[in-house]
Amino acid sequence: PSLEEVLNLHDFENISKQVMPEKAWAYYSSAADDEITNRENHAAFHRIWFRPRILRDVTRVDWTTSILGHRSSMPVYITATALGKLGHPDGEINLTRAAAKHGVIQMIPTLASCSFDEIVDAAQPGQVQFFQLYVNKDREITKKIVQHAEARGVKGLFITVDAPQLGRREKDMRMKFEAEDPSVVSASGSDGVDRSQGAARAISSFIDTALQWDDLKWFKSITKMPLILKGVQCWEDALEAYDSGLVAGLVLSNHGGRQLDFARSGIEVLVEVVAHLKEKRGLTFPNEKFQLFVDGGVRRATDVLKAVALGATAVGIGRPFLYAFSAYGSEGVERAIQLLNAEFEMNMRLLGARTLKEVVPEMVDASNLSTH
Ligand code: FNR
Repeated sequence: PSLEEVLNLHDFENISKQVMPEKAWAYYSSAADDEITNRENHAAFHRIWFRPRILRDVTRVDWTTSILGHRSSMPVYITATALGKLGHPDGEINLTRAAAKHGVIQMIPTLASCSFDEIVDAAQPGQVQFFQLYVNKDREITKKIVQHAEARGVKGLFITVDAPQLGRREKDMRMKFEAEDPSVVSASGSDGVDRSQGAARAISSFIDTALQWDDLKWFKSITKMPLILKGVQCWEDALEAYDSGLVAGLVLSNHGGRQLDFARSGIEVLVEVVAHLKEKRGLTFPNEKFQLFVDGGVRRATDVLKAVALGATAVGIGRPFLYAFSAYGSEGVERAIQLLNAEFEMNMRLLGARTLKEVVPEMVDASNLSTH
């Protein structure tokens, strides 16, 4: 189908499945075990309903925002997803180009197929990029990666904390990832590993299983970039992160359902984190100094607006952008962003919200989410 026929983010999934290499589909679409969390991620948004306001002048609506102090054309960023070249020869650069054109922030993954420098070099002057870090057992390697990222102008360090080891993604494991595959990254210290159990296993054996809270001080000592923990799943850890005073924000995420199956959706976790940080530390959200992000299953601007209403600064979107570039290259990613923009305009009008500040908790009924 032509790009004009793509009407929403779900369409990219259906189309790309037909045209992308089987191995890429297996790696991108797979999730852990029975993939229950992966399905729940989007389903959780179905339990939240809107309470729109009427008779407000919604001629002009504005969904621009600021993420960690950087302007963003929407409360959405492109989250880190590894191995972009499995789906398209230009890999992650597809995302960089589209992000530049539309004022969207890209999070560069440790396990990108393109080299880190290629991705930074592809950015326009002033374009904001974040970096997702898998912490290497060899801390000297990690230090080098982090300081290089900072020197190249990266604006935020997202440390993945939900993946001491990568989950079992069986669709991917059945594909028997081959060592000769040119899309495998080499920079990550993944030499001498068993490649017979899928892409995820093949690239992840360097990750430090011993990472702990105490290490945050060390990160703070090696970089001035704001630290964000990616993969927080309960209020207790959110509180510990806040109380450490070392962390600028959290991504409430289960890694797209690819890690612990039966982990709850980020949107569900958001509700309890906001409630407990309010009760125990008097915080209100969205909060400039301690920003909450959500990812997993976000496919519509309405999903994003629900997260914003409940206190998120912004949300991450992963697979839809992978599917978009696998089928259409960078133009596909642009189309995905344009579709989201059109959805934001319409849905903010229908909600009676002219700015994101007006997207308040009273605009949603989230009583069907659990509040632990
Ligand atoms: C991911 N994700 C991820 N996260 C991370 O911290 N480091 C990584 O290398 C990757 N790699 C990765 C690859 C692929 C193919 C997917 C689908 C996801 C997780 C990602 O950042 C995010 O948490 C989820 O993708 C969000 O869910 P959706 O939007 O894909 O449903």
